[in-house]
Amino acid sequence: MNYPVWQLGFPGGLLIAAVAVLHVFISHFAIGGGAYLVLTERRAYSQNDSELLGYVRHHSKFFALLTVVLGAVTGVGIWFTIGLVSPEATSSLIHTFVWGWAIEWVFFFVEIAAALVYAYHWDTLDRQTHLIVGWIYFVAAWASLVVINGIITYMLTPGRWLETGKFWDGFFNPTYWPSLWIRTAMAVGLAGIFGLVTAMWEPPALRERVVRWAGWWLVLGIAPLLPLSRWYFHDFPSYSRAYFSGMYPQVRHALLGAAVCTGVALALALLFALLRPKVMNPVIVAVLLVAGIGVMGSGEYLREFSRYPYVINSYIYANDIRIGQVESIAASGVARTSPWVEGSAADPRADQRHYGRQLFALECGSCHSVDGYRGMRKFARGWDAKFAGEILLHLPVVRETMPPFAGDAHDRAALGSYLASLAPAIPSGTNDKEIGQQVFAIHCAMCHSVGGRRRPLDLKGTDPEAIAGMLGTLSDINPNMPPFTGTDAEGRALAVYLSNSSQ
Ligand code: HEC
Ligand code: HEC
Repeated sequence: MNYPVWQLGFPGGLLIAAVAVLHVFISHFAIGGGAYLVLTERRAYSQNDSELLGYVRHHSKFFALLTVVLGAVTGVGIWFTIGLVSPEATSSLIHTFVWGWAIEWVFFFVEIAAALVYAYHWDTLDRQTHLIVGWIYFVAAWASLVVINGIITYMLTPGRWLETGKFWDGFFNPTYWPSLWIRTAMAVGLAGIFGLVTAMWEPPALRERVVRWAGWWLVLGIAPLLPLSRWYFHDFPSYSRAYFSGMYPQVRHALLGAAVCTGVALALALLFALLRPKVMNPVIVAVLLVAGIGVMGSGEYLREFSRYPYVINSYIYANDIRIGQVESIAASGVARTSPWVEGSAADPRADQRHYGRQLFALECGSCHSVDGYRGMRKFARGWDAKFAGEILLHLPVVRETMPPFAGDAHDRAALGSYLASLAPAIPSGTNDKEIGQQVFAIHCAMCHSVGGRRRPLDLKGTDPEAIAGMLGTLSDINPNMPPFTGTDAEGRALAVYLSNSSQ
């Protein structure tokens, strides 16, 4: 709460994701592509293949342009966006890994310098020296992954760092190794895909040779992905492995997307790069590029989602609030903790909704928008202010992916009244069952389902009177349940609905 909030109108996480996926795509190519360049150059020398050498020269220019320009621009873009969207977490990462970053920047500098020398000194350096420059490039590029990987995996599984606070405990954390090898394999595969891109500009005979050669890179990059992902997943925090059990449709879609993209890339590589290289054409290469982005994008999405509700596991929540701060914010209120909110919930003259809207931006806006992605207007349809205020006490029960609300009773009331103002609606219908279904959607469906997977309620055949009576005691049945705040008529309708429906 030490920083102002950058309000984008959509969750900041989406912006980070967009920049990061592009960056990850290019930076992994920058690593694998380095090895691809030197090994292809060596192959050209040993086979005395001047055409192939010509191809590597072209490829090296394309490579340097793409990785140095776009790679660097998107890399700076990541710092820019994370610094604005999650300043607290960014500051924490810089403090925890200050020497890691410093070393990474040295590697990055070496990488860029070597890439430029390699691409522009084909005629001025002898073969041996030129190859050595290429190797220097590759080693520096991979070494920067070795460093960054420690920091990225730390965010998901900080491991013993949480107790010791020691650099190496955070760095070599439980997911360090599987993640390093997955990323290395992806780098090899992407080198193959981009090798195919530039092969398309070559004359047919050479093109066919290059396509087969690049195809091997692609296949070798994809082959180990499945076993490596299993290893990686095995070391995920146990709470987030539960997200993969089918509760979250978006996780299922991302997994499916990753599997389909990997399968398509493998099939196309086997068919049109290794078996029938003559057929390979720009359209198939474009599909491979899209599949590559698909694999990277869904992988990154799953990693980010698995980290919910945290941005740094068990340390800082995804809304940039430190776990250790929640209690003090609850005691003193948001207005006294953050210098950036206008007004105060405790001040009866202040505009409560305006104040509540700021709390929404501060505590929910990193994951929810109002009308777009995970739109709150849809989720809060029909809520009254009292009910909204109650739900705020139970956010981690509503979804394990959500941080608890941090604030005092005034803050809760203000945010509650803002949420209730988004989509006021009164349940309506021609009979009790219809009305009851809407009451269920408004008051229960965020935590329960009828016949679904999330805390299924099966009250079919139960006397509606008994159910209606029970509604008055929900918080006694389980302290994680908010009290029912609907009218008596709504309660009766809900009881009729529940007693009539199951599976
Ligand atoms: C770390 C990210 C994150 C933060 C921060 C967050 N949420 Fe959520 N929230 C989620 C996810 C993920 C879901 C599940 C959405 C889905 O299934 O589409 C969700 C679902 C919900 C739902 C249930 C929707 C339903 O009916 O199924 C409510 C209500 C909700 N959030 C309210 C809030 C409020 C209010 C805040 C701020 C105080 C907040 N959330 C902060 C991630 C977050
Ligand atoms: C904030 C989340 C939340 C909301 C909202 C909520 N519940 Fe629950 N409910 C729970 C939890 C947690 C339990 C404990 C059992 C569990 O975890 O599955 C529970 C248990 C129950 C049980 C007893 C368990 C059983 O299967 O017999 C009933 C009945 C029930 N809820 C009915 C309702 C009704 C009706 C509503 C809407 C008016 C409602 N709940 C709203 C969280 C919620």
